[in-house]
Amino acid sequence: MKIGGTLCCGSRRTNHALTATTSFLGAGHGLCYVASLSDRFRPGYCCDDSVYCASANLSFLQDEREEVIEAWYMDDSHEDQRLPHHREPKTFVSLDQLAELGVLSWRLDADNYETDEQLKKIREGRGYSYMDFCEVCPEKLPNYEEKIKNFFEEHLHTDEEIRYCVAGSGYFDVRDHHDSWIRVWVKKGGMIVLPAGIYHRFTLDTNNYIKAMRLFVGDPIWTPFNRPHDHLPARKEYLETFVQKEAASPAVDASA
Ligand SMILES: [Fe+2]
Repeated sequence: MKIGGTLCCGSRRTNHALTATTSFLGAGHGLCYVASLSDRFRPGYCCDDSVYCASANLSFLQDEREEVIEAWYMDDSHEDQRLPHHREPKTFVSLDQLAELGVLSWRLDADNYETDEQLKKIREGRGYSYMDFCEVCPEKLPNYEEKIKNFFEEHLHTDEEIRYCVAGSGYFDVRDHHDSWIRVWVKKGGMIVLPAGIYHRFTLDTNNYIKAMRLFVGDPIWTPFNRPHDHLPARKEYLETFVQKEAASPAVDASA
């Protein structure tokens, strides 16, 4: 098999990508635990601690969603919310790990959303009958500063929050099982579903622009319930479905 490019490992955490990696690389590379499948698998990528791992062309393992959706654990800095806020060293989160929190993701054709069969199937399958667009930038959003501040207040909803980025980009921050912030960077073509009951917030990145399709089952209800709203049934159901289930299964240390 042809081998080329350089692959270095990130934090030594196990995830779903690990099985494929180690089995491909062989037993001699069993210590190469990668943080996620995104840029750790790009030939030439080197992680912050620069632990040499292997030389391999693993592009066939690339999940195309990760070109438009990336996620990582946030630092505790109070600097501008629009900065990436990576931890040191960077600690990425795979889309599989996001799915364990109930956060679903797709990559879609944002240039042809009006005729996109994949989007149509998702909408039909999940009952997303309502659709509109929301543009967030200083020029187009009335009461911009106030809205941006509100979006960044930690909150939950009693229904899913579905956002499909058709232009620009932005950060959707979600809490993990240990209450740590994961920053989910969604760019053009990325669509995510945040489950009802998950604590989250939104901010633009430094590009200061996103155009997002908003989807909903039936008549939309955008009401945010700022934290704490732990007594709501949607929150309890979220914990039962995604957090307590996780606590009962073998632990993977995602907060390291
Ligand atoms: Fe929200």
